[in-house]
Amino acid sequence: MSFLKLAQSRQSIRAFTPQSLSDSQIEDVLAAAIAAPSAGNKQAWHFEVVRDPALKSAIAEQAAKQPWIATAPIVIVVCADPAQNSERYGERGRDLYTIQDTAAAIQNMLLCAVDLGLGGCWCGGFDERTAAEILDLPTHLRPIALLPIGYPGGPAPDPRPRRPISEVVNFR
Ligand SMILES: Cc1cc2nc3c(=O)[nH]c(=O)nc-3n(C[C@H](O)[C@H](O)[C@H](O)COP(=O)(O)O)c2cc1C
Repeated sequence: MSFLKLAQSRQSIRAFTPQSLSDSQIEDVLAAAIAAPSAGNKQAWHFEVVRDPALKSAIAEQAAKQPWIATAPIVIVVCADPAQNSERYGERGRDLYTIQDTAAAIQNMLLCAVDLGLGGCWCGGFDERTAAEILDLPTHLRPIALLPIGYPGGPAPDPRPRRPISEVVNFR
């Protein structure tokens, strides 16, 4: 599949079969994450791979009205490590580059999941503090996204419409 087709075929998947993922699939997804670009190559990210059902449920419960998150065989909690960037880039590094670093890693993981025949969803609707407490994260890490990943269950969702290129691009 061409890269464009792969990118266009990615959809947010919110229903999963109970089938678990192999270690090699999980490793591929994580390898894709750390292949992402990052400001000054500081790689201000950290990933918690949650497979434990009780932990998954606890994480899903505090993600407002999204209990389906726990039905994925794994939930990757993507954390930002702002200090990695603030040392070199100050406020801009802490508040902007760190978010961009982790966003690039997230998209790489979602695309890798599609390439492996899997699906996932980028979930930002959750309580950071509660998630950090549940996972007992060190205070320097900020959980910024939940990524449930697994084999898609049920019918494929209708593709969400996109604003056309003509509306969002200006050629000069
Ligand atoms: C920053 C961000 C936060 C999101 N948070 C959630 C979320 O909490 N729950 C959810 O179901 N989808 C969430 N999404 C997924 C979007 O709803 C989805 O990407 C968008 O509707 C386009 O659909 P598609 O991914 O199928 O193309 C989020 C996406 C992004 C980029």
